[in-house]
Amino acid sequence: MAKVPVQFTLNGEEKAEFVESGATLLKVLRHKLGDTSPKGGCHQGACGACSVIIDGELKLSCLTLAETCEGAAVETTAGLAADGVMHPLQRAFVDEFAAQCGFCTPGMIMAAKALLDQTPNPTREDVVEAISGNICRCTGYEPIIRAVLTAARANSQNAA
Ligand code: FES
Ligand code: FES
Repeated sequence: MAKVPVQFTLNGEEKAEFVESGATLLKVLRHKLGDTSPKGGCHQGACGACSVIIDGELKLSCLTLAETCEGAAVETTAGLAADGVMHPLQRAFVDEFAAQCGFCTPGMIMAAKALLDQTPNPTREDVVEAISGNICRCTGYEPIIRAVLTAARANSQNAA
């Protein structure tokens, strides 16, 4: 398979790679760049486990070709903690017991981050809508919704 060059930032770090033409961003992140935080669930756009943020927008990395990310800023949960301190969303997911098996958690957190980046004080309905593309097979959606609202409150208190 032909290889094509692509450059983008991953959690603020410059990456320059030759990737197989047609390779998904999910595959490149996990198998080439060693960032296993986006998970491969359905590989067809139905579960949200592979969610990442690209240039501020929530995207499914299983449906995104790596070669289309030229010049983009890609964010994953692996880049959220700073200096060993969890991001408020990660802290809230722990405090609210929102990670059960944990498989959907990185995708949920990226969906929540995309929401809070745009809407710092979301309603419960906003949160439900924001995570509607993310399936939790453990079905514990209530703690997840609580965690996102808790993180939003923590963010607004920190900003005050
Ligand atoms: S693995 Fe991408 S949506 Fe399921
Ligand atoms: S915590 Fe298990 S799939 Fe969501």
